[in-house]
Amino acid sequence: MRRVGFTPGTGYEEWRGIARRLLRQGIAPEDVVWQRDAQDDLLADEAMPAPGENGSSARVPREFPVLADSVLAHSDPQAPALAYRLLWRLTHGEPGLLALSTDDDVVRAKAWEKSVHRDAHKMKAFVRFREVRAADGEPVYVAWFEPDHHVVERLAPFFVRRFAGMRWSILTPYRSVHWDGHETRFGPGALRSQAPGDDALEDLWRTYYASVFNPARLKVKAMTQQMPQKYWKNLPEARLIPPLVREAALRRDAMVEQELATPNRRTRPRAAVEPPPSGSLDEMRALAKDCRRCDLWKPATQTVFGEGPAHASVMLIGEQPGDQEDLAGKPFVGPAGRLLDRALAEAGLDRSQMYVTNTVKHFKFEPRGKLRLHKRADAAEQRACRPWLDGEIARVQPRLIVCLGSMAAQALLGSGFRLLQERGTWHQREDGSRVIATVHPSYLLRLPDAEAREQGFAAFVADLRRVATALND
Ligand code: URA
Repeated sequence: MRRVGFTPGTGYEEWRGIARRLLRQGIAPEDVVWQRDAQDDLLADEAMPAPGENGSSARVPREFPVLADSVLAHSDPQAPALAYRLLWRLTHGEPGLLALSTDDDVVRAKAWEKSVHRDAHKMKAFVRFREVRAADGEPVYVAWFEPDHHVVERLAPFFVRRFAGMRWSILTPYRSVHWDGHETRFGPGALRSQAPGDDALEDLWRTYYASVFNPARLKVKAMTQQMPQKYWKNLPEARLIPPLVREAALRRDAMVEQELATPNRRTRPRAAVEPPPSGSLDEMRALAKDCRRCDLWKPATQTVFGEGPAHASVMLIGEQPGDQEDLAGKPFVGPAGRLLDRALAEAGLDRSQMYVTNTVKHFKFEPRGKLRLHKRADAAEQRACRPWLDGEIARVQPRLIVCLGSMAAQALLGSGFRLLQERGTWHQREDGSRVIATVHPSYLLRLPDAEAREQGFAAFVADLRRVATALND
C-alpha cells in the first residue's frame, strides 16, 4: 500500500504530477491511500525502473483534465482517489470510459463536477467585502465565505480580474487568498471572527439590493434557491429580505396604480442596474475615469465625478455635465453652476460644505460647427451611470439630498415623480436620508423674460431655504 500526500484544492497540476508517478510505477488505485498531510511514499521509488508502463505518455481524452480538475475540488476526501481510478481505467483498456453514463465512477465524477461548479458560482455571487484599514492606513477589503468545496484556488483569478485595483483578502475555513495589487498569495484557513463585521460597505450593499428589488416579480421560492439561506448570515442585503417581502404587496399595488395613472408611458423591460463599484470614494472616482458603461465617454473629454467633503451632510445632484464642466472635469462650474452658487448663497448655504454631483457623469452633446450643443442623456445612459451615483450616496451618506431637475428627481424618487407638482417637499428614503427636489438652474436660465427669471429664481431660493432649515433641525 502506498500513502501519498495531496492537499485538497491544490488542483489538477499538483495531482497530475503524483498520478503520473503512480502510473509509471504501475501502482493500481486499490493500492494507494491518498492522505491530506501524509509523507509521500513515492519519492523514494522515483528512481526505480517503471515496470513495463510509461505513465507519462499515457493518453487520456481531452475532457479528462477538465473533469478531474473539478472532481479534485470536491470536499469528499475520496476525490483524488476517484480521479486516479478514472485515470487508471482510461489508461488500462477503457479509453471510452467517460462516455459510459451508467458507470458508477463516471456518474459520481460528473455529479461532483456539477456540485463544484454550483459552489463556485455561489461564491462568485455571494462574496461580500468589508473595508478595513491596514497598518499603513490604506483600505483593505476583507470577505468571509464558507464554500462547500475547495474552490478558493480556482476562483482566485476571477476575483483578481474583478477587483484588480483593490487590496483584498478572502477568508474561508480551509484556505485564505490575498491580493496586494500585484501578487496572489494563499494562506491557511481562518476563523469567522477574523473577518470584519458591519460597516459602511454593508449599507452600500443593502442600498443596492433594496433599489433593485422588484416587488412585482417576488418569488420567494426562486429567491431562496438563488440565494440559499445558508449564505444569508454573511450577506448584508439578506437582512432586507423579510421587510422587503412584507412590503412587496404594498409596493406592487403602488406600481400597478402608477402604471394605470400614466397609461401612455412605454413599459419597456428595464435592464437591472449593476451594483455600485467597490472601494472608497477616491477609488471609485479613479475607476470612473475609465468608465465604459455606455458610449458617452467616447466624444467627451473626461468623466465629471462628484466633488466635495467625503461625509457632507448635503448632497446636490444635477443632471449631467455641460460644456464647461466637461473641459474642467468639475460639476457645476459653467453658467448653471454660477446661478446655483448665487442661489445657495442667498439661501444661506455654503457650497464648499456640500457634495455636488450629477446623475450622469459624461457630457452628451451634438456638434454644431464649433459648438457642442447639450443633449439629454437617455434612459439607458442614465441607467448605465446609476451605479456611480448609488456608490457616491452610499459612501457620503448625506443627511439631505437635493435633486436639481427632473432627471435627478426621477432617479431617486421614481419615474412617476412630477417635479412641478411636487417640488419643495421632503421624501424619506429607506437609508434614513431625506430628499427634496427643485428645478434645475439651467431651466431658470432658459426662462423667456426677466420677470419670469426673477420669480423663478426666488422660488428656487425658497426651496433651497428649506434645505438650510432642515440642516439646522
Ligand atoms: N448641469 C448639470 O446638471 N450639471 C452640471 O454639472 C452642469 C450643468
